[in-house]
Amino acid sequence: MENYPGRKNIAIFISGRGSNLKSLIRNSKQKNSLFKISLVISNNPEAVGLKYATKSKIKNYGIKYINNSYFEKESLKILKKYDLDLLCLAGFMKILSGNFIKNFSKPILNVHPSLLPKYKGLNTHLRAIKNKDKFTGATIHKVNEKLDSGKIILQKKVRISKKDDVKSLEKKVLKIEHEIYPKAIIKFLSNL
Ligand code: GRF
Repeated sequence: MENYPGRKNIAIFISGRGSNLKSLIRNSKQKNSLFKISLVISNNPEAVGLKYATKSKIKNYGIKYINNSYFEKESLKILKKYDLDLLCLAGFMKILSGNFIKNFSKPILNVHPSLLPKYKGLNTHLRAIKNKDKFTGATIHKVNEKLDSGKIILQKKVRISKKDDVKSLEKKVLKIEHEIYPKAIIKFLSNL
């Protein structure tokens, strides 16, 4: 992947499937993409998503999960070796501590499967269906010490139909996540 002036270096944290990572890799490979994925770290060495990084010759690390503070210490050691502009959480299922955020010192973004501030945390689709919401969606937001509470960078909504269940809604929302995450990264990096 070529580099050119102004191109920003990003790192990505994943925990499993890595479909958002896959979409971000695809985007980073586009001609004149504003960002380069310099490395990928997972808290689970078995994460399927790590294979996408390997396939695209992106440095990747699976850190055997012992506890949060071990993961944060080990990942910070790796992150500090790279000249990064941004860290993106993509299906990363651990909560980063205020200490990590402070120590990393660069901005962090996250993708969340709901229209924040609605439905922070887990089981967002089930909660939206149970509440008979007409819409749900995906949000890209900055990460701060409070769960799913940082500044919203980009959001897109999708209609919930009467036929939708958790599985079909997850599929709809995931499609939106793949669409808005690269856009949000570019928007955010352009304003750095
Ligand atoms: C996504 O829905 C993301 O919003 C949530 O976990 C899922 C991860 O998907 N936090 P993937 O690993 O990117 O395929």
